[in-house]
Parts: sequence; C-alpha cells; structure tokens
Amino acid sequence: MKRLEGVLYPGLDKSIVDLKIVDDVSEENGKPAITLSMQNDEAYAILAERLADLFNGEVIVKRKTLAQKKDINYGHTANPNNRAPYAKRVIAVTSGKGGVGKSTVSVNLSVALAQKGFKVGLLDADVYGPNIPRMLGTADEKLRWNDNDKIIPSENFGIKIMSVGLTTPTPDTPLVWRSSVAVSALIQFLEDVDWGELDFLVIDMPPGTGDIQLTMAQELPITAGVIVTTPQPVALDDVSRAIVMFKDIKVPIGGLVENMSFFIAPDTGKRYDIFGKGGGEATAKKYGIPFLGKIPLDMQIREHSDAGTPPVAMGDKRQKGYYKNVADNLLKQIL
Ligand SMILES: Nc1ncnc2c1ncn2[C@@H]1O[C@H](COP(=O)(O)OP(=O)(O)OP(=O)(O)O)[C@@H](O)[C@H]1O
Ligand SMILES: [Mg+2]
Repeated sequence: MKRLEGVLYPGLDKSIVDLKIVDDVSEENGKPAITLSMQNDEAYAILAERLADLFNGEVIVKRKTLAQKKDINYGHTANPNNRAPYAKRVIAVTSGKGGVGKSTVSVNLSVALAQKGFKVGLLDADVYGPNIPRMLGTADEKLRWNDNDKIIPSENFGIKIMSVGLTTPTPDTPLVWRSSVAVSALIQFLEDVDWGELDFLVIDMPPGTGDIQLTMAQELPITAGVIVTTPQPVALDDVSRAIVMFKDIKVPIGGLVENMSFFIAPDTGKRYDIFGKGGGEATAKKYGIPFLGKIPLDMQIREHSDAGTPPVAMGDKRQKGYYKNVADNLLKQIL
C-alpha cells in the first residue's frame, strides 16, 4: 500500500490510494496481487502498466467494475432501482433527435426551478458531448473530493452540477468509452456525488433512445420525462420514437417542449416559422401528452448559452419568460 501511494490516477494529481480505488492487496504465487475497483478502461490500462513498471513486472493487476460489485437490475423498469434516494423528484430531459435544445432546456429549466426556491441538481448524462459546464460557466472547474471521498459537484446559478466534462483534462478531450463504461460512470455520478438533499434531480440525456436512456430509466424512479423537439417533421418522427420508448418502459411523460418554434427578425419584427408551425402541439396531442410551451429561435439564447450565462437568469424579460413558463407548466403536471 505504501508503494501504491505514489501511483497517480491518469490525468489527476491524486493517487490511487487517495481515490480509494485499491480494492485489495494480497499475494499470489509470491507476487503482489492488486485489485483496482474502477470503471474507465483507458485509465485501467494505463494504471496496469504503471504498476507493472513499479514492480518490475512482478505483479498481478486485477480489476473490479461496478457492474460486478453491485447487481444492476437490467430488464424491466416498472420497479426501477433508486440510485438517487436523496432526490425527491427526477426529471429526465430527452429528445429523439440531436441538437434540438435538450441541454439548453435542461439548464434553464433547472435554474428556473432553483429560482422558485427548490434545491436542484443537474446531471449531464451526455457523456460523449458534455455541454452543460460551458452553458453554466463552470467549464474550467475540475473534480474535487470532500473528506468523505464524495465528489463535490460544481455550483452556479443556484444549482449543483455534475458532468463528465469536469473529469477530463481539457474540454476537447474525447471520451472513447464503450456504452457499458459510460453507464457505470453515470451510476457513479448518481451514487458518489455529494448532491445533498434535492427537490429535483434534472438529467440532461444524450440524443436518441439508447443504452443510457434505458439505464437511467432502470436505475432511477423518473418522476417525469420532458421531451424536447423542434417543429419540423424529421425531428417529430424521432421524437415520436422517444415518446413511444418512454411509454413502453413505463416512464411518465411530463410533457413536450417545442424549441426553435419561430423566429422574430430583430430588425423588422417579422415572424418566420423556419421549421414549420404547430408540429409540437400536434405531436403532443397525438400521443396524449401535455404541451409545456414554445421557445423561439433567438440569437441571444444561443449567445447566453455559449457565454455560460443562462437566459432564464441573465436574459431579457421575454427570454426569462419562455423558460419560466415551461417550468410552471411542468410543475402543474407533477406537484
Ligand atoms: N431557442 C434557441 N434559440 C437559439 N439557439 C438555441 C435555442 N435553443 C438551443 N439553441 C442553440 O442550439 C445549439 C444546440 O442546443 P443544445 O446543445 O441545447 O441541443 P441538444 O439537443 O442538447 O444537443 P445534443 O443532441 O448535441 O446534446 C446550441 O448552440 C444552443 O445554444
Ligand atoms: Mg445536449
């Protein structure tokens, strides 16, 4: 153990002993046998090499992953596990199609709920495209641990934030993870982050209907799914699949948000229905789910999001209003 104290976790200035990932040290065939409890394949490969160097090859390195440590219940979601007992309600923000504004809605919905006095945590579940830290101005922060070895979430605009973006050395570091690894990292974020008591845990999902969406539904009792779409038919086709998936796996749907609904030209005041008109409302009606509101295509929404100043906090009255309206309509469904 003494010698392992000098072995740093790749990309962090903490040793594997500090991080408590050394699960066991024993002796096998006269060699030290070290078991690491960790999820990340790449980091494990690097550590296995570092340990081999440290012991001149005379070492056995083994690994235990969360999936082996805890039995994860894959299969049905009618009685999901509850990996977040500290959260009174869990909101999953999702969409069929990418780039329709899920992360923007997640951020502003979370901040709008915090403005109403709720305790809110926002989990960025888009491990391959973690945009939440930039949108909340925390992109330069790095992972920190408290004395109980829990991860300290970053905080801004009154909400707690956790994202895989906080774990990578630079924002352009890509994560090349198999989906099983991504899923166990997210489970760790649910279990090992010091969220405190939350009224709402909001989850910003990656696009589509894949492993991560399914796992979140299996591992958490989701109070309401919020589905984001833009009004054009190709987005609505995809959103229909997301709605049907939620219905199939028995996740209650809190409602549908139509983003980039229309555009008001700032110079002339003329309205353009760039992606068509009324598609979101019609889809909500077709599937019998609540319509939570429209958000126009607005250059300042994009600018605020890129600048890390969420429009619901730092925008003008109208921009604040769009997201407050969505939050109010959602609260009507679930409180
Ligand atoms: N109403 C809006 N008006 C103008 N720009 C917007 C609006 N909503 C989102 N955007 C911008 O569109 C881009 C995509 O939005 P966002 O990242 O929220 O989408 P997403 O659905 O989370 O994407 P992904 O599928 O990649 O996770 C961002 O640059 C964001 O600032
Ligand atoms: Mg996103």
